Amino acid sequence: MGTIYYNDESVVKLDTSQQDINRLPCDQALPHCPGIMSNNNKSVDLDWDDDHVLPAKVYPDVAHLFRRMTAVTIGAVSAVDKECVLDIGCGRALDAAELAVSGGHCFGLEPSGRMISRAREHISKNGAAVSLTRGVSAHLPFRSGSFHKVICKGALDHFAQPDLAIAEMARVLKPEGKAVIATANFESLGFRAGRSLFALVRALRRERADNGDFWQIPEDHTIRLDYDTLGGLVKPHFRIERSIGISLLVGLPGWSSLLDRLPARVSAMCLSALDRIAYRLPSLSNVIVISCTPRNKSTA
Ligand SMILES: C[S@@+](CC[C@H](N)C(=O)[O-])C[C@H]1O[C@@H](n2cnc3c(N)ncnc32)[C@H](O)[C@@H]1O
Repeated sequence: MGTIYYNDESVVKLDTSQQDINRLPCDQALPHCPGIMSNNNKSVDLDWDDDHVLPAKVYPDVAHLFRRMTAVTIGAVSAVDKECVLDIGCGRALDAAELAVSGGHCFGLEPSGRMISRAREHISKNGAAVSLTRGVSAHLPFRSGSFHKVICKGALDHFAQPDLAIAEMARVLKPEGKAVIATANFESLGFRAGRSLFALVRALRRERADNGDFWQIPEDHTIRLDYDTLGGLVKPHFRIERSIGISLLVGLPGWSSLLDRLPARVSAMCLSALDRIAYRLPSLSNVIVISCTPRNKSTA
């Protein structure tokens, strides 16, 4: 399909009043979305693919980061029997499927046709009961107060309008509901140290600054998130109950290859030790996981 554009001035909610949990069928959700116009550069890639997410060689620190990010986020959601859980920007629906297996009544929302196909494949292989909806985070096609829990992992900084997405998360949650948001921190210790080191080397070599380094946000990110920016987005709509950090030194030059040369057991011990520090220091960690409850107790 290509790309759809949103017009900030014409934010209109979908009319979902006639539906129960209000899930629109995959192929109907997008044509119903309002404001598919404008060209304010806020776009949604309807063909987004995760092929490029992992590098050809996955070093131990990166593998550890992804593994922990999933485990901690799913642990924070901890869906119990019959709870309705919405995974926003669900990608392959790996997390939604895992939460469904543990008893949640899971829904995955995803705009990319490719990712929806992959999610369907995963769900059918896995036998998990996940309902997929094709749609975007800024206009969730669900009635207010529908969900016990919302999960948004590694996706908020891909959204065209993250502020609207947060408002929508609060709207679709029940008053006592919980949102768990996990995101990369571009002001982590590893990234800060990496940036400073490279700036120093460049200055010594009298080279010009280069924006292509991997601690700059990738092309498919719309916002550069760190602890304060995330808090600023979330706090108008949520009370943050808990913030947890994962991993500390991804991004520090030489760290990945050093871990790769160490015996696996030793590098695992180093990563676990650093994780214990990161856990309490989310503003310096590579990944931030927050659990929050909606501020507005009214579901109207
Ligand atoms: C890095 S992936 C994360 C996927 C999944 N949550 C995971 O952890 O494996 C980001 C996802 O956000 C989706 N996305 C991008 N823009 C979106 C939007 N406006 N609304 C909802 N999802 C969006 C992308 O299509 C992609 O599948």
